[in-house]
Parts: sequence; structure tokens; C-alpha cells
Amino acid sequence: MTGLSLQDAAAKVMVALDKPDAEGALRLASQLEGTGCWMKVGLELYYAAGPSVVRELKSRGFKVFLDVKMHDIPNTVRGGARSITRLGVNLFNVHAAGGIAMMKAATEGVAEAMAAGAADNAPLIIAVTQLTSTNRIVLNGEIGIPGSIEEAVVRYAVLARDAGLNGVVASPLEVAAIKAACGSDFLTVTPGIRPRGADAGDQSRITTPREAVDGGTDYLVIGRPITEAADPSKAFHNLLKEMSGS
Ligand code: C5P
Repeated sequence: MTGLSLQDAAAKVMVALDKPDAEGALRLASQLEGTGCWMKVGLELYYAAGPSVVRELKSRGFKVFLDVKMHDIPNTVRGGARSITRLGVNLFNVHAAGGIAMMKAATEGVAEAMAAGAADNAPLIIAVTQLTSTNRIVLNGEIGIPGSIEEAVVRYAVLARDAGLNGVVASPLEVAAIKAACGSDFLTVTPGIRPRGADAGDQSRITTPREAVDGGTDYLVIGRPITEAADPSKAFHNLLKEMSGS
């Protein structure tokens, strides 16, 4: 047992709605309505369906993570953050690789929009550290960052904390090191979740749902193990059981 109720487990799951249109995404969301899980809207769905799908998910009671991974000059990120705040999402992200000034600009954009009365609640902001598809060979040989993945991730997490962000996206494997460096309240949002025996696909740094919970992560981002299952609702509930150990 992890001591986690099924309801608490559901509130930690962010379902990656990686679908090419609003119709398919909302059909899937309907199967999970009322469970208390989050919906993550990423590039595929947002570029196809835009703000309206986000508003629809919000109106159905879901918390929404807008996974747009902004990485641009500070002025552009500030404006992007203002627009996202007006949209009323609960969480969005930027790339830590953009540096402290860029990440601070995201916080300023949120503050400006809130001062103008854009939304009831300010969205949380987190930074992507290293994509969970990145392994050490790519980190060192292609991206050109020396050292281990964990060192690179913690370095970016500290930058994100110093910029005033609420947390980071990383692999569950790095949660303990991030919390040790940035504090236990600093949020960790972790993709790269695969039930035992499931296809890893393009992900490199993976754990099972249970390992992620035991490792202390705040939120588990789970896409294909749910969205590509023959019965997504059943797959979702099986994942909750695995997380709670029941
Ligand atoms: O299907 P799967 O469970 O691999 O989905 C993981 C989701 O998390 C995808 O939507 C992907 O874009 C997102 N993500 C990730 N790694 C990051 C940031 C986001 O896999 N560092």
C-alpha cells in the first residue's frame, strides 16, 4: 500500500490528450469526467483545436495543464503568458533552457494579466528541464551539455526556482534530487510513466506509476498507456489501483 486513496491518485494524474482534433479529445475526456484527473493539452491538440478545446475542458470541470513549452525571447514569452492567463488554465510551462530572464518574463506576464482582472486564479508555471525522451548520449553528444542527466536536470530546476517558477517537468527518476535541491514544495510533474511491460515508445527515462508515486512525484503525466488503450477508462482505473497499491 502507498497510503494513497484512489481519489487522491486520480488527482495526481494528468492525462496527455495527444489527439489530432477536439472531437477525439473530448470523446476521450468524456470517459474520464468526474474522476478528478487533470487534462494535459499539448502541441498536437492545441495547434489543431486552439483555445476553444481548453475552454470546453474547463467547463467540464477538468483542471488543465497547457503544455506549450514556450521558448522565445522574454518579451514574447511575457505576452504568451498574458494570453494563457486570460484563457484560465491551471498550469503551463516554458523551457528552462531559455534562461532566468525568459522564465521571469513568464511570471511577469501572469502578474500583468491578473492585475488586469484576466482570471480568477493565476496559473502555476513550471519549466521543462530535459525532455524525458532525452538520454545521456543525446545530452552530451548532440545538445552539448556535459555530465549526467540528473546534474543537468537539477541545474535547470535551480534556475527555474530562482526565476520564481513553481516547479519543473522531469522524469520520476530525478524527483528526489530536484526536491533535495529546490525544496519539497517545488512541484515535480513527471511524464515517462509506463506500466510494467508497456511499450516505452520514444520515452527514455521511464518508471512505472507505482515507482513514480513511491519516488515522491507530485503529478504523473500519462498519455499513450491510457489514450491508446482499447478501453481508456479501464486502463485509467487500473493505473489508479497500481498507484495506490490496492
Ligand atoms: O504518451 P506518453 O505517456 O509518452 O505522453 C507523455 C506526454 O508528456 C506527451 O504529451 C509529451 O509531450 C509530454 N512531455 C514529455 N516529456 C517532457 C515534457 C512533456 O513526455 N519533458
